[in-house]
Amino acid sequence: MKILDLSKIDLSKEAPEVEPERQYYFIAKARAILKKQEEEAGRKLTFCVTTFGCQMNARDSEKLTGILEQIGYIEEPEEEKADFVIFNTCTVRENANQRVYGRLGQLKRVKKTNPYMLIGLCGCMMQEPEVVEKLKKSYRFVDLIFGTHNIFKFAELAATRLESSRMVIDIWKDTDKIVENLPSERKFPFKSGVNIMFGCNNFCSYCIVPYVRGRERSREPEAIIEEIKRLVADGVVEVMLLGQNVNSYGKTLDNPITFAQLLKEIENIDDLKRIRFMTSHPKDLSDELIEVMAQSKKICRHLHLPVQSGSSRILKQMNRKYTKEQYLSLVEKLKTAIPDLSLTTDIIVGFPGETEEDFEETLDVVRKVRYDSAFTFIYSKRTGTPAAVMEEQVPEEIVKKRFHRLLTEVQRIAEEVCSVHEGSVQSVLVEAVNEQDPSLMTGRLSNNLLVHFPATSDIIGQLKEVKLTACKGFYYIGELI
Ligand code: 5AD
Ligand code: SF4
Repeated sequence: MKILDLSKIDLSKEAPEVEPERQYYFIAKARAILKKQEEEAGRKLTFCVTTFGCQMNARDSEKLTGILEQIGYIEEPEEEKADFVIFNTCTVRENANQRVYGRLGQLKRVKKTNPYMLIGLCGCMMQEPEVVEKLKKSYRFVDLIFGTHNIFKFAELAATRLESSRMVIDIWKDTDKIVENLPSERKFPFKSGVNIMFGCNNFCSYCIVPYVRGRERSREPEAIIEEIKRLVADGVVEVMLLGQNVNSYGKTLDNPITFAQLLKEIENIDDLKRIRFMTSHPKDLSDELIEVMAQSKKICRHLHLPVQSGSSRILKQMNRKYTKEQYLSLVEKLKTAIPDLSLTTDIIVGFPGETEEDFEETLDVVRKVRYDSAFTFIYSKRTGTPAAVMEEQVPEEIVKKRFHRLLTEVQRIAEEVCSVHEGSVQSVLVEAVNEQDPSLMTGRLSNNLLVHFPATSDIIGQLKEVKLTACKGFYYIGELI
């Protein structure tokens, strides 16, 4: 998605002030420096972007990749062999942070043997001041640190580092800036994530996202539509609209528009075949959205609707702004309007003060809703969030036991729910060659389940009718019709 001709950029002039032109200037600059390094090294230099966490990060990583490729680096799948390694980090739970420190430790050794190696860190973890302090003190070999708000400046920061050979750190506390039209490189040619909004205003009491991703801001609908049209012209048939809470999309725009209205406009884009979105906060899910989903030919039959807990008392403590009963009646409404809808969820076990009775309420919701699948998390204390200072943190052994009970129940139900499609013929987006058996292709149903079936790789990226012959728990074996 290059919009500027890099060869026409005059590097003897000052960098332009306006975006994205400024970033293209720095791409050209970094490219010139990289060329020299390559001549010196007598080989091409490579990069590896490693992504932790959510789909939002995955999409950001595609943007980083796009910029690195424009600079001239070649992609290298193995971190330890790459010359420019970027960790796009997550901090939603503590173990995500630990993994990053572990991986950094391994890279330190490699860096000693490669004079061209650069290590960059970005993403949510970098928005925590303690993390940056720790890196500055104990991880001096890191070259570049930036946060979530200024990721659009990556080219500029990389160029600065390439020029100066000093650690470059640039973290913004917040921003209202959205820079459009930067390069990006998609992981899949036929499907793509599309950011529709950034940040979160909900302040669920356990969650660090509002602190590290900043206030909610929506992209202009025209910019979104324009991007999707360009993607479709480039071969994309499925888009995943991304936001921490897509149901409040558009509320803060100068000309407010609802998420449902945005979806209707996206539906009208010719040759776009499938629309997905995540994540939906139950408190903001409107009747208008349910109606648009029910009537849509393109919106997939899948809704990720995080419940977090089944206990109204805990939900209040979590600041989720709905009760168990309200959540269940929303699910009823959805299932009535869209009978073939697959529902998935996120659940946290062991939130401070969670009693056996509270936990039973969560199990009750799982049994009543009958999710197609659920991401289950052990509560992780995040410093700076209101829940971190709540008394009555639940002892670890109790949490672990509850977690396993929940997982067993979720899996038992999911197997039953998933098997109902056996024998049916469904439309499948063919995504990849099966990793275990290359004679099989792997495709995704509208409801997000996977099916493996004998076929050749020339149909990757196409929608095909597939008969689901056997359910294997959480996926299907099928045959092409
Ligand atoms: N501990 C455990 N899980 C959490 N999540 C967010 N914050 C925490 C936390 N502190 C989970 C929520 C959210 C998902 C992305 O991560 O379930 O929906
Ligand atoms: Fe975190 Fe709640 Fe915002 Fe989701 S809605 S990102 S759980 S604060």
